[in-house]
Amino acid sequence: MEASIAQTHARLEGLTRQPTPPKPHGASLLQCVDAGSAYCPCYLAELGECLECSILRGENTCRCRWPGICVLSHHAWQGGTGTRRQSVRAPIVDRRTLQEDLEIVSIRTTPKLAGELRLPGSFVFVRGDAAAFFDAPMAVLHASPEQGTVTFAYAVLGPKTQRLLRCGEHLWLRGPYWNGITGHRHIEGVRGQACLVVAGGTAQSLAPNVVRSLLRHGNRVTVVLGRPGALFCSPFLPAGSQRLDVVKMHFPDDLASLGRLMRQRAPRLLFCGGGELLRGMVSSLASTLPAPPALAWANGHRMCCGEGVCGACLSANQGQPVRRCKALFDA
Ligand SMILES: Cc1cc2nc3c(=O)[nH]c(=O)nc-3n(C[C@H](O)[C@H](O)[C@H](O)COP(=O)(O)OP(=O)(O)OC[C@H]3O[C@@H](n4cnc5c(N)ncnc54)[C@H](O)[C@@H]3O)c2cc1C
Ligand code: FES
Repeated sequence: MEASIAQTHARLEGLTRQPTPPKPHGASLLQCVDAGSAYCPCYLAELGECLECSILRGENTCRCRWPGICVLSHHAWQGGTGTRRQSVRAPIVDRRTLQEDLEIVSIRTTPKLAGELRLPGSFVFVRGDAAAFFDAPMAVLHASPEQGTVTFAYAVLGPKTQRLLRCGEHLWLRGPYWNGITGHRHIEGVRGQACLVVAGGTAQSLAPNVVRSLLRHGNRVTVVLGRPGALFCSPFLPAGSQRLDVVKMHFPDDLASLGRLMRQRAPRLLFCGGGELLRGMVSSLASTLPAPPALAWANGHRMCCGEGVCGACLSANQGQPVRRCKALFDA
């Protein structure tokens, strides 16, 4: 009897542990925002869908771009699973209404998580006391490992943010996530150049982390903060740098002034932390410059899991489905 149970188990294991079906060779590999981080290998690697590792995708040869670690070895060492981001209940330490339907919230976190949220494009999923599908992605406006706090600003629009507005002294937080920017690689790659950051609306939250990273790499940065709407990111921009200028404008009235500023500064990189309207205006102005700058902007894809699983952010790229929460893309 025991032998037959063992035989059945062996047969079942054989059935459930089928090798990953091979992907068509040559399907382009993408750069993953999580590769080489503590959160790699992720669910996708576990399921034979790793963006970076061709072997984990079922091919016979390695064609990875070496993201700083061997994802395959990490996958083997960690028994197939990496660190998983969990929702944690975090106390709210400060919340202020900036204008009707716009709130700024600071929450207590571990210094480690706050430190991880200082990279350009950092965001978290937050929700009030509600089911997990109320999670909404929010860009990190400020993260302080010293104080163990993370701050974000949000506009109240629909069910998820209504619920957030009504939460009491705690909220649920999941992170860190980093793919809040399209054109990430340009921001990381520019050194010792003139850079322009144009920010407005809720996406201006991305500006402080971007500006800090640009200054750290020896760039000169001009920040244009655009009304209409509250300008709330200025107190979080790095203070006391000789290489940082901040200008305020009103759009669309001041578009001509922005055009003049662009020609004068001749930026090598232009980051737009704003909605589609601002991005459209800024990128068409940039395209008229004698030497158009590299572009980066807020990643506006809908996101629900942030892990490459739910499919909310899927979009097609050259006929291939791409998970925009994980794959790094140039603008
Ligand atoms: C990386 C990232 C960072 C973001 N950072 C901020 C921020 O700092 N402050 C802020 O106010 N908003 C931010 N957003 C947008 C914010 O997540 C949505 O406004 C919020 O989820 C709306 O949910 P709702 O139920 O209140 O409104 P809904 O009525 O459901 O939607 C209102 C609008 O928000 C968009 N939206 C809805 N769900 C999502 C989703 N899951 N992901 C993206 N957009 C969605 C819809 O397309 C619609 O245009 C960010 C989105 C992303 C992807
Ligand atoms: S947000 Fe779920 S797959 Fe990208």
